[in-house]
Amino acid sequence: MIIANWKMNGMLADAQRWLGEIGAFVQEHSLEHKVMFCPPATLLHSIKEMCAAHHILLAGQDCHTQMQGAQTGALSAQHIHDGGARFVLLGHSECRQRGDDDDTIRTKLNRAHDMNMQGIVCVGENERTRQKGRAIESVMRQLSNLHEPYGIAYEPLWAIGTGKIPSLADINEMHGAIKEQMGTCPIFYGGSVDEKNAANILSLETVDGVLVGGASLEAKRFMEILKAYCHEA
Ligand code: PGA
Repeated sequence: MIIANWKMNGMLADAQRWLGEIGAFVQEHSLEHKVMFCPPATLLHSIKEMCAAHHILLAGQDCHTQMQGAQTGALSAQHIHDGGARFVLLGHSECRQRGDDDDTIRTKLNRAHDMNMQGIVCVGENERTRQKGRAIESVMRQLSNLHEPYGIAYEPLWAIGTGKIPSLADINEMHGAIKEQMGTCPIFYGGSVDEKNAANILSLETVDGVLVGGASLEAKRFMEILKAYCHEA
């Protein structure tokens, strides 16, 4: 699975153009249901049919712990589902920075399940924790008591949007530890994945896919990552 996280980027016309190009690529390379798109929530409803036609999975970027209520500016699992998403990213470090802790994320995952949606939970250590040799311990803590996530995205905080990635050995070690704790659920790597490093990362046996931020915005760059995935799959 290759996941495109657009974060707070892209307008409707951008998403339609991108889906046209990526959709054609998906068909040509038999990548049906292997690409997941996480656009800004305002676009969900307008693009859901295009995603379905191209067999691209549609996901929200977050949801609230409550299903409805007095929460100005927030979106619930119900809203994301109503928009057409059947998946939702949870616990992204940018959301953790805004206050989500492990408890919040567990509750959000339950709300997603209440709507029959699947959650992909992002975990990852900060740079200091890695330097102290405590990366695995910190990630294991984030994984505890998570109830049936669809997948886990390992995203070291210091690798997100920085152009830095861990060594392949470190990615492999972390993914191995996550697999041991989580059983069969797929594990994705995220953090500065681009068209140059994707093939190496995807060649690791413990890596089931990648979560791509910046390099997913341009269809051309994202297609290079999809090509790497085709070679490794
Ligand atoms: P990046 O973002 O690929 O731009 O580093 C990844 C993410 O935050 O999901």
